[in-house]
Amino acid sequence: MHTSLFAEFAIDLARRGGAHLMSLLSTAASVKEIRFKGPTDLVTRADKEVEALIAARVRAAYSDHGFLAEEGTVREGAEYRWVVDPLDGTTNFAHGLPWFAVSVALEHQGTVIVGVVYHPPVDELFVAERGKGAWVSARGGEFVRLAVSPTEDLGAALLATGLPGRPRRLRHMRTIPPFLERSREVRIMGSAAIHLAYVAAGRLEAFWEPGLNLWDVAAGILLVEEAGGRVTDLQGAPSRSGDILATNGHIHAAMLDMLATSM
Ligand code: IPD
Ligand code: CA
Ligand code: CA
Repeated sequence: MHTSLFAEFAIDLARRGGAHLMSLLSTAASVKEIRFKGPTDLVTRADKEVEALIAARVRAAYSDHGFLAEEGTVREGAEYRWVVDPLDGTTNFAHGLPWFAVSVALEHQGTVIVGVVYHPPVDELFVAERGKGAWVSARGGEFVRLAVSPTEDLGAALLATGLPGRPRRLRHMRTIPPFLERSREVRIMGSAAIHLAYVAAGRLEAFWEPGLNLWDVAAGILLVEEAGGRVTDLQGAPSRSGDILATNGHIHAAMLDMLATSM
C-alpha cells in the first residue's frame, strides 16, 4: 500500500487517539466521568480528551485546514477539512465493552479522500484513500487489501444495524424483524464506524442505520466504497450521512425492497 502524507497523518492521529482511549479504559477513569448529552447520549472525559488531542495536532500541522468533530470543535471554510469522531461507541467504552473506534476522515472540497477507522482493543487499523482501495493492518502488521463479501444470498448474510436515539428508534425497530427472518443473523455492536469497516472487510454483508452524523460515517463510507461495496440512504438515493445502507452491493437491492415494505 502506498499511502499519501495525508493518509500517514490520519493514521497517526487515529493511533494516538486510540492509545489515549486505551490508557483511560484501563484506569476506568472515563467511566466515573459520564455526562449526558441526551437521555441515552453519553459523553465521557475520553471523548473530549481525544478530540482535543487530535484537534491540536491538526491545528499544529495544517493551520489552514477546516475541522469538524462530534464534541464541538469546528473550524469552517477551508479547501481541506478533517472530520473526526474521537470515540465512536461511547456507551460501549463507558461500560468496558471492547467495541469502540476512532474515526478520522479528510475531505478535499467536500469529497472524502482519506478515511481511517482504528479499533484499539484489537489493534486493527482500517485505511482507505479515494481511488487507491481499502486496507487493514492488524497489530501493526502488513497492510492487506480489503474486498467486500461476494455473498449474493440474503439468507447467508450477516447484517448489522445500530439503534438511533429516540424518537427515531421505534420506527427503526420495525425494520429489523424482516431481516431477522430472512438473513443469517443481525448484530448490533454499538459502533457505526466498526460496522462500516466490517462491511468493507467482508465480515458483514451489510449495515443500515438512520440518523447518523457525518463524523460517524465519513471514514467508513470511503472504506466500503473502496472495498467495492455500495452506500445509499434507506431508499436507494446517494447518501454521505444521515440514513445509511452500506452493503457488499450484491444484496443492496434486496435490502432496499425489504426496507421499503417495513418503514
Ligand atoms: C454512536 C455509535 C452507535 C450508533 C449511534 C452513534 P457515538 O456514536 O456509532 O453505534 O448506533 O447512532 O451515535 O455516540 O458512540 O460516537
Ligand atoms: Ca459516533
Ligand atoms: Ca463519538
